[in-house]
Amino acid sequence: TTVEWEAESYDMGGHDTYMHKEIAEQAEAVDRVLRGRIDDKFATVHLGGLNLDPREARSVRRIKILGCGTSYHAGQIGAQLIEELARIPADAEPASEFRYRNPVVDPDTLYVAVSQSGETYDVLAAVQELKRKGARVLGVVNVVGSAIAREADGGTYVHAGPEVCVVSTKCFTNTVVAFALLALHLGRIRDLSVADGRRIIEGLRRLPGQIDEILKAEPEIKRLALHFADAKSMLFIGRVRGYPVAREASLKLKEVSYIHAEAYPASELKHGPLALVEPAMPTVAIVPDDELLEKNRAALEEIKARSGRILAVAHQEQEKADHTIIVPKNEDELDPILMGIPLQLFAYHTALALGRDIDKPRNLAKSVTVE
Ligand code: AGP
Repeated sequence: TTVEWEAESYDMGGHDTYMHKEIAEQAEAVDRVLRGRIDDKFATVHLGGLNLDPREARSVRRIKILGCGTSYHAGQIGAQLIEELARIPADAEPASEFRYRNPVVDPDTLYVAVSQSGETYDVLAAVQELKRKGARVLGVVNVVGSAIAREADGGTYVHAGPEVCVVSTKCFTNTVVAFALLALHLGRIRDLSVADGRRIIEGLRRLPGQIDEILKAEPEIKRLALHFADAKSMLFIGRVRGYPVAREASLKLKEVSYIHAEAYPASELKHGPLALVEPAMPTVAIVPDDELLEKNRAALEEIKARSGRILAVAHQEQEKADHTIIVPKNEDELDPILMGIPLQLFAYHTALALGRDIDKPRNLAKSVTVE
């Protein structure tokens, strides 16, 4: 009932696990999703398979993104990118929830199905139901020719290459980059200026080099993973752009290390989760240097005042944090693409220290083709 990758058919390339290999491959994977798509003259990108002409693109009133697990989290960042760059109201929802709640299907909404495998049953069933009701559905998919790619009206491939580890890493990053391309494309058809288009393109071009820079910090990230590996539970917090990053990082830690982790918007701390904060409950905080920096610092202060241990992922040292992993700054809109990458390594090294079955965590399958 589930599809397993034939892991043996892909070379490990000197890595001890596919997860480690796939984390390490992210700069070249991002390079691949960008290749041949950037149009410097018009400060936009071309996405060949969208099947959406400019007039249709302008008439879209809403965008609804559907996916499961990591793909859903990539879709959440995608929705924010679309709102920021194209100013089209957008949101993401688990496909599994969407298909069971008899959603209102609106002819002016563009639906986007996201999937690494292209075979996830809940996503496929949502696509089929939408199409039956006459909706237009695009796919943001990794596996070429997969069921969701075939069923969609158009879309874009993510070009992450084969992902063998059950726990998705490089495909998440590439999916978010694919959404940045879609957002830029839609933005430039609508109201995004040439100057902003150029700014985003330059940001996208900086990503592969910045990813490699982040990966160089692996020894330090490993040290931090060992430091926190005794935790029974961890809190992950972020605000707006940082929140889906926190959710994905928390899922990564849960899946691969079996440590309980819970993600919350930093703004919600005072509405409940602050009660959990104590030295035995460390917090991982996503703290980008954007317009919400001071708000995020205030959240760190709240946690520190309750003797919580803090690991921050930030663009500069955070005074209130016990440890800060510093990531290179990109454009504000693109920062989420980079900020989760050190936490993939954090999850990996935590799982390694705990002796987990990293490429095949218990109870999970790479592709869930059943309800
Ligand atoms: C990722 O780490 C997970 N194993 C899982 O959440 C996965 O993202 C989800 O099942 C969706 O898979 P898909 O992208 O192949 O549709």
